[in-house]
Parts: sequence; structure tokens; C-alpha cells
Amino acid sequence: MEERQVNCAKPYRLGILGSGKGSNCMAIADACAAGHIPAQVALVISDVPDAGILFGSRERGIKAVYIPPGPFRTKLDETAERSYVSALKDAGVNLVLLAGFMRILKGGFLRAFPQGVVNIHPALLPTFPGLESWKQALDYGAKVTGCTVHFVDEGIDTGPIIAQETVPVLPEDTAASLHARIQEAERRVYPEVVGALARGEICLQGRQAVWRK
Ligand code: GRF
Repeated sequence: MEERQVNCAKPYRLGILGSGKGSNCMAIADACAAGHIPAQVALVISDVPDAGILFGSRERGIKAVYIPPGPFRTKLDETAERSYVSALKDAGVNLVLLAGFMRILKGGFLRAFPQGVVNIHPALLPTFPGLESWKQALDYGAKVTGCTVHFVDEGIDTGPIIAQETVPVLPEDTAASLHARIQEAERRVYPEVVGALARGEICLQGRQAVWRK
């Protein structure tokens, strides 16, 4: 079976896309600054002009820009997609991290960064893909949920899984308390995976992501 070292270009320059408060982005930026991830956050982009992710990044001295997403609610239009790709390429980005980016990325974007787009999802995929997965888990009556870091392909939350962490669903949980506990797990597992990618420890064999620690 074909084995591909994921994204061997060095040094690693990260581009982070997010629409919200950016707690995952900040955890990754702080891990880079502390030397735990051998990489640099080169650019943060948001599709929301006043997103927390932009302010938190700028406070850390990271270039962070709003790029208008175009008229669609769930995807970038073609002009916006080109603008996102050029901004990332101009910044020398070779690994794109989605951290709460609320739009689906299409083939044109993904082909610009082959095996170089990674996402964090707030459930144990393949269960509860899509939106508000913590609420889906609660409503379903799941006793365990968690978070998943995965490569992004053209499907919705369907790309090869790199790592997962479980989180118990407690009887007294509300959607907010469960989401907060899942986000604590996210802030552990996402920086750990990015560090492993940057050290070249992760290979893809078919759709199996193999982590050689
Ligand atoms: C996270 O829960 C992530 O799993 C989901 O969106 C949320 C983003 O949170 N995709 P933050 O903006 O990183 O705080």
C-alpha cells in the first residue's frame, strides 16, 4: 500500500482558519511560541470580521485578517476561495488548520494544499458529524463522546482520522457544560497532533493515518 509522509516541506508554516473565539488557535499558537510545536503560525484568516480568533491572534503578534467569504452561507464563493488560497500561499503556509471554520472547503482549495488541511471536530467521528455535535451526542443519549482531529477531504467530516480523545457525558451535563469539556480535550489533542505533523511523525497509508511516536 502506498505510504505517504505527510507534507515534508520544512520549516512548517501554519495557516489557521476560524470563525469563532479561537481557543484552539490560541492553544496551537501558544504551543508554537513555547517550542512544543516546531512550527510558526504564519497567518490566521477569518470569514467573520469581529471574530475572537482575529483579536487573540493579533494580541500574540500573529498576522490575522478578515477575508470576505462571498454570498453563500456554508461555503466560499470562487473569488473568495482564490483570495484565501493566495493569502495562505503568499504567507508561505504549508499546513492549513481549521479551528471552528464554519464553511465547507471545496476541491479547488483542497488541491492547493494536498494532504495539508486538518480539522478538529467536537465528537468521535464517524458519529455525530456536522453541526453542534456535542448537542447531538447529548440528545442521542450517548454516554461517551469526544473530539477528533482528521485530514480534510471533500466530504463533511469524512477525512482520515489522525487522533481522538474521549470525553464522558455526565448525567448533569447541559449542552454548554459538555461542549466546554470537549473543548478542554481539543486544546490538548490538537496541539499534540500539529506537533507530530510538524515533526514528520504521521504518515498516511491509504486512509489510515499512522503515527510513529
Ligand atoms: C471547536 O469546538 C471545534 O471542534 C469546532 O468549532 C469549535 C471552535 O472553537 N469545529 P474555537 O473557536 O477554537 O474556540
